[in-house]
Amino acid sequence: MSAPLRPRPAAPRRAAVAVGSARPGALPRSLTVGVIGAGRVGAVLGAAFSAAGHRVVAATGGSGVNPHRFALLPGIAPSSAAEVARAATDLLLIAVPDDALARVVAALADGGLLHPGQVVAHTSGAHGLAVLDPAEAVGARPLALHPAMTFTGTSDDLGRLAGISYGVTAPADLRPLAARLVADLGGVPEWVGEADRPLYHAALAHGANHLVTLVNEAADRLRDAGVTQPQKVLAPLLRAALENALRYGDDALTGPVSRGDAGTVERHLARLAATAPESVAPYLALARRTADRAIAGGRLAPTDAASLLGVLADTQRRTAA
Ligand SMILES: NC(=O)c1ccc[n+]([C@@H]2O[C@H](COP(=O)([O-])OP(=O)(O)OC[C@H]3O[C@@H](n4cnc5c(N)ncnc54)[C@H](OP(=O)(O)O)[C@@H]3O)[C@@H](O)[C@H]2O)c1
Repeated sequence: MSAPLRPRPAAPRRAAVAVGSARPGALPRSLTVGVIGAGRVGAVLGAAFSAAGHRVVAATGGSGVNPHRFALLPGIAPSSAAEVARAATDLLLIAVPDDALARVVAALADGGLLHPGQVVAHTSGAHGLAVLDPAEAVGARPLALHPAMTFTGTSDDLGRLAGISYGVTAPADLRPLAARLVADLGGVPEWVGEADRPLYHAALAHGANHLVTLVNEAADRLRDAGVTQPQKVLAPLLRAALENALRYGDDALTGPVSRGDAGTVERHLARLAATAPESVAPYLALARRTADRAIAGGRLAPTDAASLLGVLADTQRRTAA
């Protein structure tokens, strides 16, 4: 980002900002779009906006390890942030790493590079509208548009966009436009309040990112047990468990914790401690949370859970000592 900095004009507050051309009715059907950060998400959403009939005219990026992402945006070569912001007269999509977002927005606003009425949207799950305050202060319209999907930055992602949810935070008058943009991408909006963004994102990261760690931990422990094709063993079991959990919630639970089988869990923990001590703490934490949910949901009677909870507490004490 090499946008020249200049003093920011006095900031009108959100309620006082003129709506500008971002009224859905005032914007053309085909929007002129720029992408700041054509990485995994930016390149793919840029390609999806193009496929929906919008005009993606410029993008930044390409200096990282994956310059081939511009292949998703035919006819576009990497430009500077200033060029992209100026060219994107209707919609500027910012898809940079979360921790860079505030700096990028401030540099664009301070550099006088944003247009009044231009929609400035970001794709971060953790951030809401506040990070776009500098853009709104110079008359742009803020939008948080987070695709609830994991991206590889390849054309494979395009096939996964149909029907996904977008965590959207938008000023009330911008909601119709936000809904239209999400529909153009083939998705469905899920409206998230500004204060709820960190919790919304924590839930998704806990589910999707920690699931990856859990699956890989399970595969490693199977290898330790001499299993030659862990993925083959895990795939049908985990797919069924995921499907059942999504369909039946806590009622999908099976296994030793759901039955209060303290002896089995004790043997698990002993073998894990001997083979992969780094797996003991995560196993304990998840077993404890699983037991709490099973008890709360009435699947495990507190009396049947007593020995199991004792095994978990004893192991916790031993590992903490
Ligand atoms: N990856 C996912 O699965 C996913 C899913 C949903 C939402 N998101 C969100 O989407 C946003 C982008 O994530 P991503 O995974 O697409 O990241 P990414 O693949 O690392 O791409 C980031 C892009 O931003 C550019 N960039 C990096 N640092 C910058 C800076 N300081 N100033 C300006 N541009 C910078 C990079 O430029 P170069 O191309 O030159 O390296 C690249 O084009 C994040 O807010 C993330 O939370 C990600």
